[in-house]
Amino acid sequence: MNSETWRSRAEAVIPGGVSSNVRLSAPRTCFTRGSGARLFDVDGREYVDYLLGQGPAFLGHGHPEVTAAVAEATSRGMVFGAQHTLEIEAAEALVEAIGWAEQVRFGVSGTESDQGALRLARAATGRRRVLRFSGTYHGWLDNVLIDFQAGPTSPASEGQSEASLSEWIVVPFNDRTAVENAFAEHGEHIAAVIVEPVMCNNGVIRAAPGFLELLRSLCTRNGSLLIFDEVITGFRLARGGAAEFFGVTPDLAVYGKAVAGGWPVSAMAGSKELMDLIASGRVNHSGTFNASTMAAAAVLATQKVLREQPPYDGIAAHSATLTTGLAEIAERHGLPLAIQGVNAAFHLGIPKDPASASPATCYEELAGLDLARYARLSHRFAEEGLWVAGRGVWYISAAHNASDAEKALEAFEAVVSKDAA
Ligand SMILES: Cc1ncc(COP(=O)(O)O)c(C=O)c1O
Repeated sequence: MNSETWRSRAEAVIPGGVSSNVRLSAPRTCFTRGSGARLFDVDGREYVDYLLGQGPAFLGHGHPEVTAAVAEATSRGMVFGAQHTLEIEAAEALVEAIGWAEQVRFGVSGTESDQGALRLARAATGRRRVLRFSGTYHGWLDNVLIDFQAGPTSPASEGQSEASLSEWIVVPFNDRTAVENAFAEHGEHIAAVIVEPVMCNNGVIRAAPGFLELLRSLCTRNGSLLIFDEVITGFRLARGGAAEFFGVTPDLAVYGKAVAGGWPVSAMAGSKELMDLIASGRVNHSGTFNASTMAAAAVLATQKVLREQPPYDGIAAHSATLTTGLAEIAERHGLPLAIQGVNAAFHLGIPKDPASASPATCYEELAGLDLARYARLSHRFAEEGLWVAGRGVWYISAAHNASDAEKALEAFEAVVSKDAA
């Protein structure tokens, strides 16, 4: 049975044939398995994967140590309705890796752990409003989902309750003056600032030098909490995430994706003092599947691999080879290309005006990119055996090697040369 047939079956029983709206625009192949940095589909095709399932497969698909640890742990049961030894060891491993945090609470998705952090910040400060940045993503639930094209607090889905969207204060990323003005006007009402230290969901835009430090000092001065949404950056930029990478310490942070090598696990982290609000029951954070044996074993094994075989230097070298190669091919074929980001995640954009290809510093500047053209090209990359996101982000895993980069560059050149012709 080929991908076409599977697709018809999928569309019959799953809305749009996919289980997350983020996948609606993906090329409709049907995969059978992933191994390391490669994916395999029902048509017998092999892909080099620079999407990593939107980020989680940071150690590569089916990492043997993590897979074995999960299998062993789940053979002894999954959820017990109370704590278990692996859960405690996993929490200790995260506290050690994160460095600045004293306690963690496990969840299942980044979306829900973001909710926990926002609730905790409001409870700790007794304030309602939260400052965030246009273009950031903090999950798909009613109180956080915004269509920034439509307006700073516009709902992004039919059926979405708009009741709490007005509590957001939204300013452009990296805009120091806008943040200072927001604090000058609303400081006493701001419970928290929530920020993706590298805005991976739009453009993989890094916080400009000094920007996170500014957020830190404004939060401290105004009695607001600083929340790092490290769902993408956590364990990926460095073992201690963006906080370690940038040298700025938040009050709370949220992790997901890479924390457990691909297993569905998230966590929020903070000081014991803040987390005591949960311990005392004043703040509710719950979840049947939180810290299942599967989740805890995956966290523990992933963190052991990251600690004992840190992949960060290898990823930096791979990233340099890849981005240099992509830029060189684009230049040879006259394709304007803007590349920006960090080692383990970078963004490719095609500037509408080749003369103004400077890196974007905020979501608003991404309007200068031809996002639709890149999305079209990404479907053609898939035909050449290169699996990447349609929105321009490329993720590098610990499993990528020289032959993966070579295959990706060949596929990129095959598409770009035809596109330019
Ligand atoms: C920065 C950020 N926060 C939160 C989320 C939501 O995480 P999840 O998809 O696991 O609910 C995502 C997902 O892409 C994300 O990138």
